[in-house]
Amino acid sequence: MKIKLFSVLFILGVFIYGFTGNDQPNRPSKDVIEQGKKVFNYVCAPCHGKDGKGDGVVSSTIFVKPRNFTTGVYKFRSTESGNLPTDSDLYESISLGFHNTAMPSFTNLSPEDRFAVMEYIKTFSERFSNPNEYPLKIIEPANQIPLSPESVAKGREIYLRMKCWECHGVSGKGDGPAAKYGFKDDWGNKILIPDLTNPNEVKRATTVEEIYLVFTTGLNGSPMPSYKEVLTDEERWHLANYIYALIHGIALYDGKTIEQLKTP
Ligand code: HEC
Ligand code: HEC
Repeated sequence: MKIKLFSVLFILGVFIYGFTGNDQPNRPSKDVIEQGKKVFNYVCAPCHGKDGKGDGVVSSTIFVKPRNFTTGVYKFRSTESGNLPTDSDLYESISLGFHNTAMPSFTNLSPEDRFAVMEYIKTFSERFSNPNEYPLKIIEPANQIPLSPESVAKGREIYLRMKCWECHGVSGKGDGPAAKYGFKDDWGNKILIPDLTNPNEVKRATTVEEIYLVFTTGLNGSPMPSYKEVLTDEERWHLANYIYALIHGIALYDGKTIEQLKTP
């Protein structure tokens, strides 16, 4: 009985560690991969393709193309630019989906199915089994600066100084001079600059922390760069507050309106 309890705790420990750690996660069992494959072929393959190349039958009908998983390049992560995503990052993407794209939220799948399909999509790229990719460099947002008119004004100054406007436009509407020429992502698909004054055009970044992560990690595979090395942590929080105010339509320098938003 004691041995049984011990082994249950041990397996649970390995599971939790493998799931959250930044070291190379433990290889999942064959059963998990088989379960993940079943879910994938049934639910995800119509978009992402049976071989994970992003070429499922639905892909030709949608503008934002499904991800090709074979390159192991992911946009929404908690890791530094160029790094693989963590298991939790992938699990979160599967659970939340992406606004303004065909990728839905999959909370209708059980946590076990989401976990299994997450493990299965990793098998499409050799990067996940290459020990040189680990440990992942995780970005842990800390020391967040509260939203205030002063912080938003500082953020606006950083937005102009860092030339975010070249792509996103001076007003954030996605009409910067560079946007005119059109961009392609790493997979050769056309990519649009979102209107940051319209919450419906933003794929993920709606909270201050999510916004902070987008320009700290950079969206690998897209023209959206990482500013981790060129801005201090404090500057990045001011910038995140400014973008938050833009996205949520807060009158930017009107302290009263910002105050109101803090207490919904
Ligand atoms: C109706 C089409 C569709 C279905 C079904 C679909 N996806 Fe997606 N998925 C997309 C699109 C489109 C994107 C690209 C989003 C982008 O690049 O902004 C995407 C992107 C992703 C990403 C990449 C996120 C990143 O950070 O780069 C993951 C992971 C993902 N899908 C997993 C899945 C899994 C697992 C399933 C099945 C449970 C699934 N998708 C089903 C359309 C779909
Ligand atoms: C070279 C052009 C370029 C520059 C410069 C740039 N961006 Fe972006 N940005 C993009 C593109 C393209 C996307 C859309 C990526 C996608 O949807 O896959 C994007 C997306 C975003 C998003 C939305 C993410 C989401 O969840 O949909 C935010 C927020 C953002 N950028 C903020 C910034 C900030 C702040 C700066 C300056 C510090 C900046 N960007 C500089 C091209 C750029």
